[in-house]
Amino acid sequence: MTFRNSIVLTISCLLLATACPAAEYLSPIAVVADGQILYVAESTASRVDIVDVAGGKVSGSISLDRNPTGLALSPDKKTLFVTADGPDSSVHLVDIGKKKVSGSIDVGHTPMSPVATPDGKRLFVCNRFDNDISVIDLDKKTVTKRIPVTREPVAAVLNLDGSTLFVANHLPKGAANVDRMTSVIDVIDTATLKVISSIPLPNGAIDLRGMSLSTDGKHVYVPSIFARFLVPTTQIARGWINTHALNIIDANAKKLLWTVLLDDVALGAANPWGVTSSADGKTICVSHAATHEVSLIDTEALLKKLEPIPARATAGLTIPEYESLPENPANSLSFLTGIRRRVKLPGNGPRGVAVVGDQLAVTQFFSDSIALVSLKPGESGIQSIALGPEQEMDTVRKGQMFFEDASLCFQQWQSCSTCHPDVRTDAVNWDLLNDGIGNPKSTKSLLNAHKTPPVMITGIREKAEVAVRAGIRYIQFAMPEEEKASSIDAFLSSVKPIPSPYLVKGKLSKAAERGEKHFKKTGCILCHAGPYLTDMEKYDVNTTDGMEKGKELDTPTLIEVWRTAPYLYDGRAPTMLDVVTTFNKDDRHGLTSKLSAEQLAELAEYVLSL
Ligand code: HEC
Ligand code: HEC
Repeated sequence: MTFRNSIVLTISCLLLATACPAAEYLSPIAVVADGQILYVAESTASRVDIVDVAGGKVSGSISLDRNPTGLALSPDKKTLFVTADGPDSSVHLVDIGKKKVSGSIDVGHTPMSPVATPDGKRLFVCNRFDNDISVIDLDKKTVTKRIPVTREPVAAVLNLDGSTLFVANHLPKGAANVDRMTSVIDVIDTATLKVISSIPLPNGAIDLRGMSLSTDGKHVYVPSIFARFLVPTTQIARGWINTHALNIIDANAKKLLWTVLLDDVALGAANPWGVTSSADGKTICVSHAATHEVSLIDTEALLKKLEPIPARATAGLTIPEYESLPENPANSLSFLTGIRRRVKLPGNGPRGVAVVGDQLAVTQFFSDSIALVSLKPGESGIQSIALGPEQEMDTVRKGQMFFEDASLCFQQWQSCSTCHPDVRTDAVNWDLLNDGIGNPKSTKSLLNAHKTPPVMITGIREKAEVAVRAGIRYIQFAMPEEEKASSIDAFLSSVKPIPSPYLVKGKLSKAAERGEKHFKKTGCILCHAGPYLTDMEKYDVNTTDGMEKGKELDTPTLIEVWRTAPYLYDGRAPTMLDVVTTFNKDDRHGLTSKLSAEQLAELAEYVLSL
């Protein structure tokens, strides 16, 4: 489009208010540095921008056919690996000299966090929704192996010699009606390409996003949410519901050493996301997505303070004993006082971080900008580089920003997305106040909540709009402002399901096709009916006990249930097969007892394909 045409279009769309092109948000999510150059993954604009830090501006960009999710540089700095969003996706190889995609390699569903080995021969990619890691031979440009991991791998790092890959799993796995739920770090031996151990984080450490290796290679840093999911959500001060942590793993022993809280006594540091270390190793940098800050932690002072405290791996105590030790830093909201700077950023929604010279670069998702924070001792300079033209946010975008913002919450302890990461579920149970105390419920995904009233598994709220305002009032302990609440409604209503990883080229597998017949025959379709697979009515399908015994529950939607295990009102069913077998002994939840083992598996596969 010529300049003149674009002015004409802008003027006419302002007058007519209909033909305006939709705003293009960039949503920078990941960043890597090469000298004074930054490569920035624009997660909603199908491109990588190149930022010249010294010049303070975008100096070029690389267009892609899909939205980028993660980046890595090859050790010789000649190739940029860019993972692209979506099912059956790929990793693009970008020729840095030509600033062009020179090839791509098919990987899995929603690939992210590419990591190249130090010899430049192999690349590892996390396939978030296939729950595995693709191993790529970079000479042959082919995938040589897929290694299954625990659940939703979102970040990976290699140790210094490249012999061990650490993989951060976003969510915990297993039933939720239990006392212990944690995300794990899977440890892969890169010679045998096998998972050699899974390191459980402390109870409630979930929602992992980022991970990094310390500059000296001794430690792996993993920020997490630290959910206190065993207590009723009656109050919020002093991190009663959710706190936030940095988990420190011994990279040689491959064991968890300590977990340190990132919050302050009366001020949460919600939703830590990216983590890295300064080039000299003196500062650990963590971004806080929901409070628009970074934590700059003095590494030496931290390790000195931790030294006399028994580490979890060597304390000789059981995990519960260790977790209740008074000197365990995971129990202290003032542990970092005096050895960490909390720096407020100029923008909104920090995510990925990278060190460029003696500055920290932080992607600011909602402001479409990069914040640059000085890491020099005694300096507190902060700059911001715009990645695109400034533009008004529409209601949906604002709603997403408020949904992910802990400033709506008393003392910034949590955003809606703390328990509903990516609008879905944190996979743990919470004892919310809307239906009394002592009856924890599995966190529901909010996909289609506005289209399938009533809401909450008991149907206690007439519609999602009511639950949104109640959430701000009773979970965030704040006064709902109508403008913010209604934009959250608009955002939640706009969220679309992601295609299931069980689909084969977008279609039901043969087994799932047979499963669809069982779904009809066994009567599932009677209640799980219509476009959202719920008739929006309540039934007692004999899944309940305790305080809920015999209560009728609201038929949940089955769209995207592949993503939201564990199942049933209190997360008692770890898998789909458990829903139709272990927890349906008397056929009150569909006539499944007559199905063979194979037919049950087909039924489960169909439901997991929705
Ligand atoms: C402490 C964790 C937590 C936080 C924070 C939280 N929620 Fe929830 N949310 C839950 C749980 C648990 C459920 C399911 C409860 C049930 O079924 O009884 C739920 C259910 C919902 C539902 C009903 C979904 C449906 O289809 O039935 C809506 C809507 C909702 N939440 C919106 C929000 C909003 C908006 C915020 C932020 C203001 C928020 N939540 C913050 C835990 C949380
Ligand atoms: C009589 C109505 C009814 C029938 C028939 C029925 N369901 Fe359900 N379904 C429900 C209700 C009510 C719940 C909520 C139960 C709970 O949370 O404990 C539910 C929950 C589920 C869940 C859990 C979803 C989640 O997000 O936790 C799955 C999966 C499911 N049903 C699948 C099936 C399948 C498969 C069949 C057929 C074999 C079936 N249902 C038959 C009413 C029904």
